[in-house]
Amino acid sequence: MKSGILILFLICFVSSKFMSFSASDSLKDHFQSKFKIGTSVSPNELNSGASFIRKHFNSITPENELKPDAIINQQACQQRGNNVETQVVFNQGTRATLSFCQNNGIALRGHTFVWYSQTPDWFFRENFNTWGNYVSRNIMDKRLESFIKNTFALLKKDFPNLKIYSYDVCNELFLNSGGGMRPASNSKWAQIYGDDSFVFKAFQFARKYAPSGCKLYLNDYNEYIPAKTNDIYNMAMRLKQNGLIDGIGMQSHLDVGYPSASLYESAVNKFLSTGLEVQITELDITTNNEWNQSVLFKDIFKIAVKNAARIPALTVWGTHDSISWRREKNPLLFGANYAPKGAYYAVMDIAA
Ligand code: GLA
Repeated sequence: MKSGILILFLICFVSSKFMSFSASDSLKDHFQSKFKIGTSVSPNELNSGASFIRKHFNSITPENELKPDAIINQQACQQRGNNVETQVVFNQGTRATLSFCQNNGIALRGHTFVWYSQTPDWFFRENFNTWGNYVSRNIMDKRLESFIKNTFALLKKDFPNLKIYSYDVCNELFLNSGGGMRPASNSKWAQIYGDDSFVFKAFQFARKYAPSGCKLYLNDYNEYIPAKTNDIYNMAMRLKQNGLIDGIGMQSHLDVGYPSASLYESAVNKFLSTGLEVQITELDITTNNEWNQSVLFKDIFKIAVKNAARIPALTVWGTHDSISWRREKNPLLFGANYAPKGAYYAVMDIAA
């Protein structure tokens, strides 16, 4: 009898340990009832980091592998593009990333179609030639449509079971601190079009060709600087009036010194007041003080949890400090060799 009770006690003890272990140390499991937890991923990490990524994340944003310069193929455009049909080709890194998502049931955030950066200059020139003249808006309309159409078609053809739940149709349209869109001197899109009509066209084409369930996003950075918050809000409202947009992406490349959690929250609230979804799409927080970092990480996660009904995903921009684009300032939840940091424990402390 005594030994029976002892065995029962041991079983309960071990299983409760085990359950709290599995329920509490995976980010995605911890926040499962609230939102997806995403990370950006580079193909280099898909082998060594596979089990870590599978454990913590249920959304992936390819760090570079779906950007225009990675998937628009110059030679194919010149050979088969007839000056207007953008040819989309996925290289090995893109394929590896998309396969990883598909094989592991991890949802994809597509990133990105219209961006002033990482988009080849020849994409805007006659015959897709490096030295051609810049094309007219009319030609660019056709290139933009075929770029979006062919990307979604190739995703569907080669990765039929991939769940694409959102896509950044436009990235970083606006100037740093408010004051409107990037000018022609800083964006080939603005240069060719001379106005913001390309934004509406991009969303129209994305609406036409995106798979069902794929939400269309306007993504930007420094989105909490009030004048810029307004610029993004105004554009989102215009797109919304035309039924073209589903969400606003807040990149959230923060520093412990700026912005404050309350300034950040004002931007979240302003964006939610559009009636659209909001996602935190590229969160990292630079620091030389890990304690302050964990406080701000926790505050940002808490703001997201508070609004979880309309925030379907929170993505951190990378898995661990050593591979971050801002690695000198240790901006992520995990340090070298995926060691959990104070910020990880702080966010896991939030009741989800
Ligand atoms: C921006 C882009 C990302 C990435 C980072 C730097 O935030 O949206 O795709 O290029 O810069 O890694």
